[in-house]
Order: sequence, then C-alpha cells, then structure tokens
Amino acid sequence: MTGYQGPERVFSGIQPSGGMHLGNYLGAIRKFVDLQTQHECLYCVVDMHAITVWQDPKSLRDQTFHIAAAYLAAGVDPAKATVFHQSAVPAHAELAWIFSCVARLGWLDRMTQFKDKAGKDKERASVGLYTYPVLMAADILVYKATHVPVGEDQKQHLELSRDIVGRFNREFDAPDFFPLPEPLIKGPGARVMSLRDGTAKMSKSDASEQATIYLIDDADTIAKKIKKAKTDPEPLPSEPKGLESRPEAANLVGIYAALSSKSDEDVLREFGGEGFGKFKPALADLVVEKIAPIGAEMRRLQADPGHLRQVLVAGAERASALAEKTVRDVKEIVGFVV
Ligand code: TYM
Repeated sequence: MTGYQGPERVFSGIQPSGGMHLGNYLGAIRKFVDLQTQHECLYCVVDMHAITVWQDPKSLRDQTFHIAAAYLAAGVDPAKATVFHQSAVPAHAELAWIFSCVARLGWLDRMTQFKDKAGKDKERASVGLYTYPVLMAADILVYKATHVPVGEDQKQHLELSRDIVGRFNREFDAPDFFPLPEPLIKGPGARVMSLRDGTAKMSKSDASEQATIYLIDDADTIAKKIKKAKTDPEPLPSEPKGLESRPEAANLVGIYAALSSKSDEDVLREFGGEGFGKFKPALADLVVEKIAPIGAEMRRLQADPGHLRQVLVAGAERASALAEKTVRDVKEIVGFVV
C-alpha cells in the first residue's frame, strides 16, 4: 500500500520494433486518445526497450518516427499530451538502475514474456531483455504515473512495477513516495488475436504477413486479409457463449465490437445465424472505415520526419523536467550525495 497523495498522471509506451498494428491500436493507442482530454498524459516511444533485441540502427530511427506518427494520426495531440522518445530522457535509465537493486531475481524469473521472447536458448538472450520489466517500472514511476493504459499482455509487467513500488516505499521508509500504478486494461480490444490463429496474439513479429492488420495497410490489403482470415464452417452464434472454443470467430466478433463500440452481445444480435460470407465483408468495411484514414495520415506525417523529430524533442524537454525532479528526490532517499 502507499499513501501517495500526488496528482493523477497517465503514462504508457510502445516499442519501435516493428509496424504498428490493430492490436496496438485497440489495446493501447485508442485509450491514449480517450485519456488525454481528462488527464495529464505522457506517451513514450520506448526505443531503449526496443534494443533488448537486435535493431538495425537505420530502421530504429525510422521506426521511432513510425510510432510517433501512429500516435498523432490516431488523435494523440501533442498540445494536450507529452509525446517523446525514451532515450532522450536519461532519468529513465538512472531510476532503472536503482530499481534493479530493489527488484529481486525471483520476481524477474517469473516473467513469462522473457521466457517467450528468449525461447529455448536463454543463455544467448541479452541482459537487457531479462531486466526489461525493471526499465518499464522506471518509465512509469519516474513520472509517478498513477494509471497505465496497456493491452492484456503487459499485465504481469505492471504487477512487477507495483511490487517494486511496495518494496521501495517500505525499505526506504518513504510510504508516500511512489504511487501504486493502476493498469488500465479492461475493455474490448485488450487482446486482439492473429488472423491466422485465434489462440496466438496479433503481433509485430508474426511470420505470416496475413496474420496482422497493420495501421499502414491500405483499404485493399485490409479487405484481403480479413477475407483470408481463418474461420470455422459454422454460422455465428446468437450469444457470446456460443463463441467459446471458437477462438477465430471470437476474435473477429471482438474486433467488430471494439471498433464499433458495441458489446459482443450486440454484434451477435445483429449477425447471429449468419455465415462468415456475410460477416467478413461487414467487418472489412468497418476496419477500413476506422483504420485506413489513420494509415493515410501516418504516411503523410512520416513524409516529414523533421516535424516528428520536433514533436519528440519538445516532448522530451517537458518530460525531463518531471523526471529529473523524481530522480533527485530518489537519490536523496537512497542516500547518495546530491
Ligand atoms: P509493445 O510495444 O509490445 O505493445 C504496445 C502496446 O500494445 C499492446 N498490444 C496489444 N493489445 C491488444 N492486443 C494485441 N495483440 C496487442 N499487442 C500489443 C501492448 O499491451 C502495449 O500496451 N513493454 C511494453 C512497452 C513499454 C511500456 C512501458 C508500456 C515499455 N515501458 C511503460 C507501458 C508503460 C511493450 O512491449 O509494448
């Protein structure tokens, strides 16, 4: 528990390690846009996280602009929210070191994402990939963020951030210093699945291009991917219960529901009893309507990286002011000479 009394603040980040897709949009970016009107928000491009696996330096820079473009194209407004890149604010790395002395090996050993990403040959994974969640905790807490909008796959990392806060506040006898960050995960779209396999998460690194709808895909590509999406031969059920053990059907209904701001129930009320021959074209129209304009705007923004760089640098300046204050206070608490 913490007795933190400070202001509410939202922080989230996305790695520049591949193309932005529908999962990133529904699980994260769309929430960023909704939150910015009511809260102080910081949205980061976490380039230091991206290099925990190999990134070609030339594409890393482009990818960083790509994520910034996705934020802006989806409606994040740099006049309302602070948009910046992680490597421009060294306080993240400073706090991460201190947190790595607070977190326990046993906590990190439990992280399932490390196990998934490192695969069988964990001896060859970078040290950074292992300590990744500690840097993530620093990202959030260097701003004393109270709320973190993310997809379902980040839940365990957020729990680790909360464990670090608990131990830090307790060990250093500073019960009010850091807030316990709340994950904002709920809602349709928290876990968008692959179009080729309804049991696997839609991801930047899927071997099949057909599995992932990228925000940058044009209308034609989106429609083709949905047409080819894996399904089963049954018509859609009239109630959500009928989607159990039909992961591909459940995923397509979930995407429709998330993009139309309806519940699964509503979608099935409309399409229950229909085959995919009818549902897929309706879904394709909806995805094209919602996503293609974002892709077009991203292409426009990416054509002017100078502007994107300006947005990021100005954001980093604002973020630094907050982050440096926290690191100064933490140094004091830990007993460093300041
Ligand atoms: P990343 O870059 O893998 O993903 C960015 C965001 O998109 C969400 N997401 C999904 N949501 C629904 N369905 C999917 N298939 C899907 N795939 C991805 C993720 O949950 C995430 O919200 N560790 C983070 C980046 C990070 C961060 C942070 C996030 C670093 N520091 C501090 C929050 C706060 C990551 O790798 O996200």
